[in-house]
Amino acid sequence: MSKREALHQKSGKANFELVYGLEDPREYFRTLGQFDYCIPQHGQRVFSSLIEARCEEGHNGHGERQTGVVDVCCSYGINATLLKHETTLDGLYARYGSEELVGLSSEELAGADAAFYKERTRQAAPKVVGLDVSSNAVSYGIRSGVLDAGFAENLEENEPTQTLGQAISGADLLTVTGGVGYITERTFGRLLDCMTDGPEGRIPWVAAFALRWVSYEEVSEVLSGYGLVTEKLSSHTFTQRRFADALEREYVLEELAKMGVETAGKEDEGWYHADFYLSRPADEAETPIQTLLEPAL
Ligand SMILES: C[S@@+](CC[C@H](N)C(=O)[O-])C[C@H]1O[C@@H](n2cnc3c(N)ncnc32)[C@H](O)[C@@H]1O
Repeated sequence: MSKREALHQKSGKANFELVYGLEDPREYFRTLGQFDYCIPQHGQRVFSSLIEARCEEGHNGHGERQTGVVDVCCSYGINATLLKHETTLDGLYARYGSEELVGLSSEELAGADAAFYKERTRQAAPKVVGLDVSSNAVSYGIRSGVLDAGFAENLEENEPTQTLGQAISGADLLTVTGGVGYITERTFGRLLDCMTDGPEGRIPWVAAFALRWVSYEEVSEVLSGYGLVTEKLSSHTFTQRRFADALEREYVLEELAKMGVETAGKEDEGWYHADFYLSRPADEAETPIQTLLEPAL
């Protein structure tokens, strides 16, 4: 049983899985908004800095090309929406909670989103391919136009389909918010197999936020097999959401105490905190992670 499953069993609350597979994102935002879920906003700043850095440095001689991002646990295409369009997570909470959109069917909302985001596309928007186990969520991301392509596959259990493999081969960046723990080194390994499989043998960067009580060790070990060196941003942690209740808080604080993690000023204040990990090929890791991300912190 995973830590998350254990938590759900123990607390009997905060089972957000119910809102992961609906036909549109309104209920997702309504439910997670109650707990100030905010990790995608940190993702927007951090991932955008990395995309910019990769473009500026023209890694692998592809400076001018549109950056290819693979977002795992993409849900309704939330990170894609934020990376590609002039909007913020607060903007998404406001949009999906608005009176104006409440009466629309899911199909109508997807159409309205497609028109809305098209007008707000950033100039250097990356191309984002999404992967999630929820076929409803991925389908919404595609129909609303925020995902350039999307796949509902579970790489914890199965090998990727050929179509997924082809769509992500040669991509520049793998991103995850709110997903490590649901996905393990198995999914990372299978994705890396596909991403490095292009004719140019390009090695992507991997950028992941992981809750502080979830180990990233096994993932970095697998990534090292692809020549990637993983660093944790040691100067900073990122708020993910408020604890849903006292039971959840108690459980997480206990787990962190067992791990010897200092929670003062962080989880003690009632918030889940995530660490940020960046994995780069050794010869592309000259700029320290702290310097690279300074503008985003
Ligand atoms: C907390 S949500 C995060 C969604 C989005 N990244 C965000 O931060 O708003 C977790 C997501 O992981 C997905 N998920 C769970 N198990 C998965 C798996 N094995 N492979 C891919 N996605 C998975 C869920 O369907 C859900 O959409």
